[in-house]
Amino acid sequence: MSAPAGPSGASVSEIVDEATRRMTHASTLDELQSVETELLGKRSALAGAHRSLGALDPEERRTEGQRLHEARETIEALVADRRAALAVAARDARLRADRLDLTEAPARPGRGRLHLVTRTRDELEDVFVGMGFTVAEGPEVETDWYNFEALNIPPAHPARGMFDTFYLDLDEAGAVVLRTHTSPVQIRVMQSQAPPIYSVMPGRCYRRDTPDARHVPIFHQVEGLVVDRDISFAHLAGTIETFTTAYFGPDIHSRLRPAYFPFTEPSAEFEITCTICRGAGCRTCSHTGWIELGGCGMVDPAVLEVVGLDPEAWSGFAFGFGIDRCAQMRHQIADMRVLLENDVRFLRQV
Ligand code: PHE
Repeated sequence: MSAPAGPSGASVSEIVDEATRRMTHASTLDELQSVETELLGKRSALAGAHRSLGALDPEERRTEGQRLHEARETIEALVADRRAALAVAARDARLRADRLDLTEAPARPGRGRLHLVTRTRDELEDVFVGMGFTVAEGPEVETDWYNFEALNIPPAHPARGMFDTFYLDLDEAGAVVLRTHTSPVQIRVMQSQAPPIYSVMPGRCYRRDTPDARHVPIFHQVEGLVVDRDISFAHLAGTIETFTTAYFGPDIHSRLRPAYFPFTEPSAEFEITCTICRGAGCRTCSHTGWIELGGCGMVDPAVLEVVGLDPEAWSGFAFGFGIDRCAQMRHQIADMRVLLENDVRFLRQV
């Protein structure tokens, strides 16, 4: 018994085989859709075979009709299976495309650290707080009065030559400056509180210096001020020695050498044992064994009077030294300019 032939002359089993082959080649849902139309649509071999049933006698028509029906159901089931498989594949592909790769390790931002000058300042503050001092601050942009006049440096005083000043173009020419030292904060502290005063005042200062290995135009100082009854030069010397050994270690000492500052009388330069050669003498300390750190002295009576304190009742001492210089001595930094260059290879080391 031969199967009825469609327009193409194919048997039912051939139609099913052909359908199976075509479908496995449909690799997308769209392709499957057109294959389905070709296999089951009005112009399909199956539909053609169905139309030619009319030519058969009733008995044959029923059996053949039955077989064609089964063939159609078989193909429909194959299409449904294939469609389900392609839908899963399409969904997987979409998921793969959308997937976040959580195993990827993105470059981490480097962990920062405080600048060496900031750390040195913090450590110096700690030492003085440990000695009973409080910490105060003042503005970096100062008036001429605070920076000079109140400190006993009148206009045209030769001592102004000690400070290569940056003047700001505000109001009267020369009335506003970038502070050349932290000493103006002494005045602000004495104006804002009554003695006894035991304060340190760290901060940034500016001088019109050409940068070289030992000078940068932006630097940092820490000022110290004590105002109390019966304060003597011995208190000053003892405070400086205590600070020096606390910060630099027990084998580094201080010495005071006569000097001049308009706002202290008597005045001294404050030197410490050279930390490079430990006092033996080297190129850094010009073979003296000592390195200058700052200035100091007994608060000049004229300065006490400016802020309305009676020099007969009160006395005090003041000092000021470079924070950058302390960092340089602690870490043996040959050239101060590295502190401003922001080269991470330097900043990472300390
Ligand atoms: N202000 C002075 C300077 O910058 C240092 C100093 C401070 C001297 C306090 C005496 C007293 O050179």
